[in-house]
Amino acid sequence: MEFVGSHILSVDQFDRGSIQRVFDVADEMIPYAHRDRVTRVLEGAILSNMFFEPSTRTRISFGCAFNMLGGEVRETTEVKASALAKGESLADTARVLSGYSDIIVMRHPEAGSVAEFAAASRVPVLNAGDGPNEHPTQALLDLYTIRKELESRGRGMDYLRIALVGDLKYGRAVHSLCKLLGLFERIHYKLVAPPELGLPEQTIDELRRAGHEVSIHHTLTAGIDHVDIVYVTRTQEERFPSQAEADRYRGLFRLNQAIYTQHCEPNTVIMHPLPRDSRAQAQELDDDLNENPNLAIFRQTDNGVLVRMALFALVLDITDQVHSHARPVTWYTARRFARRH
Ligand code: NCD
Repeated sequence: MEFVGSHILSVDQFDRGSIQRVFDVADEMIPYAHRDRVTRVLEGAILSNMFFEPSTRTRISFGCAFNMLGGEVRETTEVKASALAKGESLADTARVLSGYSDIIVMRHPEAGSVAEFAAASRVPVLNAGDGPNEHPTQALLDLYTIRKELESRGRGMDYLRIALVGDLKYGRAVHSLCKLLGLFERIHYKLVAPPELGLPEQTIDELRRAGHEVSIHHTLTAGIDHVDIVYVTRTQEERFPSQAEADRYRGLFRLNQAIYTQHCEPNTVIMHPLPRDSRAQAQELDDDLNENPNLAIFRQTDNGVLVRMALFALVLDITDQVHSHARPVTWYTARRFARRH
């Protein structure tokens, strides 16, 4: 895969070699993300961070990743604050913005919208989530996290056993992660969802045709035994035809410490793309798991900065210059990365 100057729109663009390249560059970013060193390699570069859907970690981690490389960030966070609200096409907005910025990150509620936008852009565009379709950078940071978690247990990615729990129909993070994992050998996917919220049939067929095992479960306890990873997701309420329809699925699957202890293998890694729904009726991932050392959710969010820095560095072609523009930090940082979950 050619990174330089490319749009990153789908995990379909990646093969195992290019994933490894992203991960190697992400590892190089650790001293900067952990605030041991600062680099100014992207000094003068401008990122337009366009988020037309709610976001906290994806938007801020993209912005921080660009800042940590020395670049400037311009943000638009609502359709009603942008000219899209006046009927401007995505293509016109893309033409305009690409005159003001060196790279664009975009999240939008419609599937395919970011690709449509990218087609008219003169600068690289990174997909930060297009409706229920894809979320490629989330999948890359999830995979980077899975790799690290398994490494610390003496295992590789091939033959991974993963339970994917929750709304697998509308969850774009799961869609991208399933496809990306499919590049490895004989993955066992245990899909735990209500029948109406299953993973799209087409994705299941593709995974099976590629030689992976896919099993389907409608109860949490049947799905989470004998796996290396439990990946829990939130019901994507905003994508349902009505709130009443979404409410039917609230709180259907809840993983807590007691269920984990009883049904999971020891050291099963617990992941979630976040945000988790902590309202009393939902709680798909209970707070009582917070002290469980296998809970990797905040390692995922930390890793998001590394992976996004790596993508900026690869697309803007500065991977070999990062360290020559660096110096130690001058402020107090010791406590921040001392506790790593
Ligand atoms: C996910 C998303 O937006 O698709 N969040 C994220 O980017 N970390 C998952 C979600 O919103 O449930």
